[in-house]
Amino acid sequence: QKPFTVLALESSADDTCAAVVSSDRVMHSNIVLKQNDVHKKYNGIHPPSAIYAHTERMPSAVQQALLHARMSMEDIDGIAFTQGPGMGGCLAVACNAAQTLAAALGKPLVGVNHMRAHALTITLTEPDPPPFPHLTLLVSGGHTMLVLVNSEEEYQMIATTADEALGETFDRVAAMLGLEWGERGLGAALEECASSHSDTDADDYDIKMPTMLPGQDGFSFCGLRGHTKRVIQTLTKREGGQLFQAAAVVQLTDKLARAIKTCRRSAFWPKAIVVSGGVASNMYLRSRLHFASAAAHAGEGEPAPVYYPPPNLCTDNAVMIAWASMHRFLAGDTDPYGLRPLPGWKI
Ligand code: KG4
Ligand code: ZN
Repeated sequence: QKPFTVLALESSADDTCAAVVSSDRVMHSNIVLKQNDVHKKYNGIHPPSAIYAHTERMPSAVQQALLHARMSMEDIDGIAFTQGPGMGGCLAVACNAAQTLAAALGKPLVGVNHMRAHALTITLTEPDPPPFPHLTLLVSGGHTMLVLVNSEEEYQMIATTADEALGETFDRVAAMLGLEWGERGLGAALEECASSHSDTDADDYDIKMPTMLPGQDGFSFCGLRGHTKRVIQTLTKREGGQLFQAAAVVQLTDKLARAIKTCRRSAFWPKAIVVSGGVASNMYLRSRLHFASAAAHAGEGEPAPVYYPPPNLCTDNAVMIAWASMHRFLAGDTDPYGLRPLPGWKI
């Protein structure tokens, strides 16, 4: 049977993305047009500029996605796009482009939840995907959450952030340290700075960083950011970066271990842990999080294995949007034309 081929568009934040993926798990193309050139001078995403840049670049992203896939629109069976959550004006660009293409060409359409797409990426990239249900830590620029994924359509929120998302905190601390928006953005610039020429790590400094909201399930990063601001006055950029990054990851490890225990108390033993979203491309975080799984099991049975998508599919892309739409296309569960963006759409 011929595989089902999806063209997907994504424009929820500052990357203009288009990709072609088919139901036999082949990524035919993955185009990500970064807007670093646009936002660099603001040292953060400047929403009006992002909307204009998406509008300018989306046609080229679609053209390139088809070209790389060596396909034309005749080969495309369905069109997917990110419907939310994200910045309203930015979402509108992919929403409009995808629906107009689908309507003009008479193709079926699916609007995708961006956070579900981050969560489901692992079911595409792992040859032997983690079974449902599994526990997913989503850490991106707009969200920090622990979610129990029961199926492609069923998500149960275990914990979220009381204030800001960790990606945002990384960005703001990087700016505080005077780092510049590099090739991969501010968060990645902080990681680079913290690991550059370093034979020390955060444990070597005699400075105590707070673990926020101890004893509670939820995350909080605002206080850690304030604390970092105070301690970095007397430190080098690298030291400051290392201390912040290590404290942030300790919080993730703590909350993840708590969530695993919470799930076990409710008679659910997570078979796997998945970490995804832009911050999950951080290599220090990856080197530390498997301890959380081991610690939570405390000798009882095998610790659940920790899975990460490849770093380039942790940050925003349209491959994940195409993949998250696939089960709906295959079930014939498609959307009408004329959908609106849903900026605050929950997972
Ligand atoms: O998932 P994503 O690409 O976009 C959203 O859906 O938000 O996540 C972007 C966030 C940004 O805040 C960015 O600074 C952060 O992920 N990020 C990182 C790294 N790469 C991206 N944070 C820490 N270390 C990284 N290597
Ligand atoms: Zn994202």
